[in-house]
Amino acid sequence: MTVAIVLAAGKGTRMRSSQPKVAHTVAGLPMIAHVHRAIASVPDLEPLYVLGHAQEQVRALLPSDVQVVLQLEQRGTGHAVQVALDALGAEVSEVLVLYGDMPLVTPRTLESLRDRHRREGAMVTLLSANLERPQGYGRVIRDGDGRPTGIIEDKWLTGDQRAITEINTGLYAFDVPWLRATLPSLARHGDDEIYLTDLVERAAAVNQLVVVPDAAREEIIGINDRVGLAHAERLMRRRVNEALMLSGVTFIDPESTYIAADASIGGDTVIEPTVIVEAGVTIGRSCHIGAQTRIIASSVGDHCTIHSSQIEFADIADHVSIGPLCHMRAGTNLGSGVHMGNFAETKNSSLGAGTKMGHCSYLGDAMVGDGVNVGAGTITANYDGLAKHRTTIGSGAFIGVGTLLRAPVRVGEGAYTGAGSVVLHDVPDHATVAGTPAQELRQHKVRPETGAGRKKE
Ligand code: UD1
Ligand code: CA
Repeated sequence: MTVAIVLAAGKGTRMRSSQPKVAHTVAGLPMIAHVHRAIASVPDLEPLYVLGHAQEQVRALLPSDVQVVLQLEQRGTGHAVQVALDALGAEVSEVLVLYGDMPLVTPRTLESLRDRHRREGAMVTLLSANLERPQGYGRVIRDGDGRPTGIIEDKWLTGDQRAITEINTGLYAFDVPWLRATLPSLARHGDDEIYLTDLVERAAAVNQLVVVPDAAREEIIGINDRVGLAHAERLMRRRVNEALMLSGVTFIDPESTYIAADASIGGDTVIEPTVIVEAGVTIGRSCHIGAQTRIIASSVGDHCTIHSSQIEFADIADHVSIGPLCHMRAGTNLGSGVHMGNFAETKNSSLGAGTKMGHCSYLGDAMVGDGVNVGAGTITANYDGLAKHRTTIGSGAFIGVGTLLRAPVRVGEGAYTGAGSVVLHDVPDHATVAGTPAQELRQHKVRPETGAGRKKE
């Protein structure tokens, strides 16, 4: 078993943020969650997180069963690894070290670094990359024969060294006994800091350094500021969208479509430009997701159509059509074949199969049966200023345009409310009510297709 030590104790000062750096999101997930996903998909690789700054907040972004150590004072990358070593079991003989601010790193890169480390048998294996713009990174220094001799941080480069394009990615594999023996002897910098990079020079001096120079440039980006964050976002977006396209999802314009890295979308679904799909969303097969739609923490079934709408914490079954301009809020459950037309809003409400809510209506805290017609401008008055109350509408009911349902209230199965009714009292099954306040009529309207309003004999 190999341990991947993830350094994430720093504040990330250059982000100029009240949040810890690794909590900032890339493609909908916190940076550190991306790193965790990469490690978790490598066999026999266990993460160990070094947290410090805002550690509780960062801890909450990780699964609860992962191992965490605290670096109470952030005294450099070398010190952070030292803290991790103290928590490491004696049986662990090799570690990878990487940073919580490298969200683009892939499982393949981690695995091949470990393989290479085992094959070469050196104490330190370091991944480097050649960048056109190496500014900000530590550089790999090589001697006249091209052998690597150490790392110099960007701010201490002098003269010709500034032209070096080979950078330290910050991804290493170490032999643990060597690390335990060598780390304590490193020199202290500035504010009593220990730099992991100084180990590279030590290993080179005893011919125990291997530098693997072929890191994929886009994977090793260490995010330091918000310019880097936006750059990583662009690269991650391309990666996420391409994987979905290859799995059978159509993007009209992938550059302007924002899908969270953990979203799942079924084959033959078409995604129009400017769609935003946030973390934790699943969308089924053969759906059409129209422009200006945002979907948050929801599940959408197969064969659904959604146009310029916002869907939050909702469950949408198959063959549902929504929009344009609907707002499905938290706790919305739409049954199979539901149709939501223009300007429909729902909150904490379930609508049964085949129910239609065409125009300018609001249902809050409502339980609506199957095959109900919700007329234009229907409103549940679910809040009396102190508490929320529920509205129940039975299957097959027909709610006339402009009906106001004052909760708590129940409209029976197959009942009918006339246009403009203000419903203050429960409506019996198959009754017809109208007026303000709504009263039962003797004459019943009957809705041919569902029989709504037909009195039971
Ligand atoms: C570091 C490397 C640099 C490399 C670059 C790659 C050192 C001295 N420099 O520079 O050579 O090119 O990464 O991105 O290692 N951290 C802790 N505890 C600390 C200090 C840092 O956990 O005491 C964590 C930070 O939270 C961060 C990571 O280590 O996730 C790297 O720290 P950062 O300050 O970003 O290092 P760089 O200056 O980018
Ligand atoms: Ca960094």
